Amino acid sequence: MKPVRIGMVGCGGIANAHLEGYRSLAGRGCDHFVLSAVCDVDAARASAFASQIAQFQATPPQVFTDLDALLAARVVDGVDVCTTHADHHPTAIRCLEAGVHVMVEKPMGVTVRAARRMQEVAARTGHILSIAENSRRGLGQRAMAWLFNQDRRLGAPRLFAIDYFAGPPLPLTPPAEETPAAQLNWRLDKLQAGGGWTYDGGVHLMDSLLVYFGPIDTVYAEHRTLTPRETLLTDGRRVTGHGEDTSLATFRFASGLIGRWSFSFALPGVDFMRVGFYCDQGYVLDETPGGWTHTFGGGFIDSQARIRGADGKEISSRDLELEYVLSLSGEERERLFPHGIQRSMAIECHEFVDCIRCQRQPEVDAAAGLAGLAVSAALYESAEAGVAVRIQDVLDGAVDAYQRPIDAHWGLLP
Ligand SMILES: NC(=O)c1ccc[n+]([C@@H]2O[C@H](COP(=O)([O-])OP(=O)(O)OC[C@H]3O[C@@H](n4cnc5c(N)ncnc54)[C@H](O)[C@@H]3O)[C@@H](O)[C@H]2O)c1
Repeated sequence: MKPVRIGMVGCGGIANAHLEGYRSLAGRGCDHFVLSAVCDVDAARASAFASQIAQFQATPPQVFTDLDALLAARVVDGVDVCTTHADHHPTAIRCLEAGVHVMVEKPMGVTVRAARRMQEVAARTGHILSIAENSRRGLGQRAMAWLFNQDRRLGAPRLFAIDYFAGPPLPLTPPAEETPAAQLNWRLDKLQAGGGWTYDGGVHLMDSLLVYFGPIDTVYAEHRTLTPRETLLTDGRRVTGHGEDTSLATFRFASGLIGRWSFSFALPGVDFMRVGFYCDQGYVLDETPGGWTHTFGGGFIDSQARIRGADGKEISSRDLELEYVLSLSGEERERLFPHGIQRSMAIECHEFVDCIRCQRQPEVDAAAGLAGLAVSAALYESAEAGVAVRIQDVLDGAVDAYQRPIDAHWGLLP
């Protein structure tokens, strides 16, 4: 069987982590794929990326600055899309329509409607649409999902509480002059990013919560921008204060479970993180600095969570991870951690290649990607409306006041 030809579209920050994933797969003898093309609107970035690939692959990839040219060259079977949120749907849809399979970074689309369009086109064309939601694939998250859903030593979940507070150190010093490059930040533009941290990083948590505890029914959120920043965008627009730096939210699950999260990056002198999952026979408590990333981010930072069950014995997250791995059959271990890899990004890259080779569906398909995104979007809708919001109403488009201007801008309204 010929190697699957993968093109990488968007060669910025996270694409480097995907590249490391492909590099580690190649290094472990996985020869099922070749990186045949790279594409970025920034020619220098695309070329630099191709040079990195040439270090571990015999044939260097072709370099493009335009997606249509890449598709016309017919040099890819699948593309790995690592562009900005608002670019996910146009790029993914053009690829799917051209007969090319797609893996796209999270959040799946800039709004629910954008993601729905992607889902419809994937269903109509029959091509693979995988969402690069890496968080749930990390060893820590897999072990936690196993703890709540299979192992069940903690009994029934009762409540979760998640706090993540950070701010500038005290005493405060005047902010340093921002460089022009630092100001060109698409993440601070609602039209390009869709939202702030609740949308960008928060969607990882939403996905993990859905995996741990099942469907979420209703959310209520309060959002604030306590320290508004002015940003100059690449198209010359100046925007101020988009993107909440503070969020308080409650969640009610279909199972009846309740929970809340709160984060703020605008609390001077404060640096504090705590994640607690409380059940009727025990708890998981994680206060690891940087454990945010472990628990509902990229899954890169080892956590030192404590798990205590009905026997009163406390074990570490490392102990739990070992128990979980020992519970897996050889086949499950190879499927979830192929070639012994534990880095979540390498695992999702491997899965994408395997889905194309074997014509199978990915774990995080369009429905799963949309489910996580809809919870993040619902938090914005709730904060905008000042009332609790049902996830189903956001999925159906019945509640859309926050997202409507974004949809209008990108021509997504019916
Ligand atoms: N899974 C994770 O943990 C994680 C972490 C960070 C970012 N992300 C996601 O990755 C995506 C990219 O984020 P980033 O931090 O790498 O952003 P970035 O700005 O560093 O990179 C985006 C790149 O896309 C390029 N680009 C934009 N539009 C393009 C187009 N139409 N065609 C080709 N190239 C185009 C830009 O020039 C830039 O090089 C986002 O969806 C983000 O949410 C995921």
